[in-house]
Amino acid sequence: MSQIREQWGSKLGFILAAAGSAVGIGNIWKFPSMAGENGGGAFTIVYLACILIVGLSIVVAEFVIGRKTQLSPVGAFEQLAPSSNWKWVGYLGVAAAFVILSFYGVVGGWILKYIIDSLSGGFAIVSGNTEASGTVFNSFITSTFSPIIYQVLFMGLCIFIIVQGVKGGIEKWSKIMMPLIVVLLGVLAIRGMTLEGGMEGLSFLFNPRFEDLTASAIVLALGHSFFTVSLGMGTMITYGSYLNKKQNLVTSALWVIFLDTAIAMLAGVAIFTTVFALGANPAEGPGLIFVVLPSIFPQIAGGAVWGTLFFILLFMAALTSAISILEVVTAYFIDQKGWSRKKATIQFGSIITIVGIFCSLSLGGGINITGFLGMPFFDFMDYLSAKYMLPIGGMFTAIFILKKWGLSNYMSELKIGMDKMELSPLLVRSLLTIASTIVAFIIFNEIYFEITGKALIG
Ligand code: TRP
Repeated sequence: MSQIREQWGSKLGFILAAAGSAVGIGNIWKFPSMAGENGGGAFTIVYLACILIVGLSIVVAEFVIGRKTQLSPVGAFEQLAPSSNWKWVGYLGVAAAFVILSFYGVVGGWILKYIIDSLSGGFAIVSGNTEASGTVFNSFITSTFSPIIYQVLFMGLCIFIIVQGVKGGIEKWSKIMMPLIVVLLGVLAIRGMTLEGGMEGLSFLFNPRFEDLTASAIVLALGHSFFTVSLGMGTMITYGSYLNKKQNLVTSALWVIFLDTAIAMLAGVAIFTTVFALGANPAEGPGLIFVVLPSIFPQIAGGAVWGTLFFILLFMAALTSAISILEVVTAYFIDQKGWSRKKATIQFGSIITIVGIFCSLSLGGGINITGFLGMPFFDFMDYLSAKYMLPIGGMFTAIFILKKWGLSNYMSELKIGMDKMELSPLLVRSLLTIASTIVAFIIFNEIYFEITGKALIG
């Protein structure tokens, strides 16, 4: 049964949906803590260079492949390279979606729980005491039922949105949530800067300290420039496949990258001004969000409100990313198997939720699965996707264009909708070559590290 392909309702709707995928948990806790710990402004400069070279060229490549074929990854590669092995890049993307969403949904659940805790004044008992806050967090995530209940709730919301389709679900909700994220972060950033001592947070985040910019920080910036715009598993191919031929794909990609970066920096401002004003430890890493912040919000006037707003915006960032992951799986079953959207979403959304339950339980709430490189199942899924599946997918996407589809075919699709904007094929070729080489190096470096226990760089 062939179904009429859904399309975005507007240019803005598409950009906000793609930016919604890009802006996720990674922007709110990963970027700020990485920048803070690795040279502040110096790290930011390197990160900007990476995202403009690696991020931009692969985002554009994914958009082009999607719009050209009007298909999600597996069908897209199959159409452009019939009876070849390239479709496996598409399958890798669908598999990566399964892997990522299973643990992303668990974290989504934690965020929901923290909204409720903050709202009910629950942070008061850990006020000013990061140790107590850490204990509360740990006992929550290692318990059996409660994190699963929240995870199921979060996944239910994803399924609810994706069942409503591209325009009526993804686009509609992204248009509501993305502006809210910016406004809430803006308010929290202003609140932070007006706290006494808050401005010190800005210099921690933005003053370039080149002495802290190590080789490993550069590798980190490279990897993050890739992860933060959701590359490598065909999310942007899928979103691009709902486009008509009118859109300029280069400016769209620039918008997505700009919004992603701006929101990451705004999050850094909101978080570090508050952390510095209250004299907390800025170098806490992942614990910053779930451990440090809950212990400092109660110390600010109106802290329950600020805390709730913060976790609501984090929740929206996680949700707009999670739906884009589920859409990759749903679109595969619609495009390749002719399923209805409802059936595909509910069936596979549920399977991913069940795998997610195992991720949650592996943290201590029931089963002890540490058979994977000695990590809990949860960490393993994170490691597998971020270190291997996404970089490998992204690298092959760039290689596919250079070696299989051909630059001239690629350029003729890319040019549609660009009006008078000119792009030199040499520049496009060089960017794709640099991007794939860099990503190949990152993957090699990681494998080398796994085998020898020592990285080549970093
Ligand atoms: N970009 C998301 C973030 O910053 C994470 C992410 C990586 C992602 N790959 C993805 C989200 C693929 C959706 C789809 O948190």
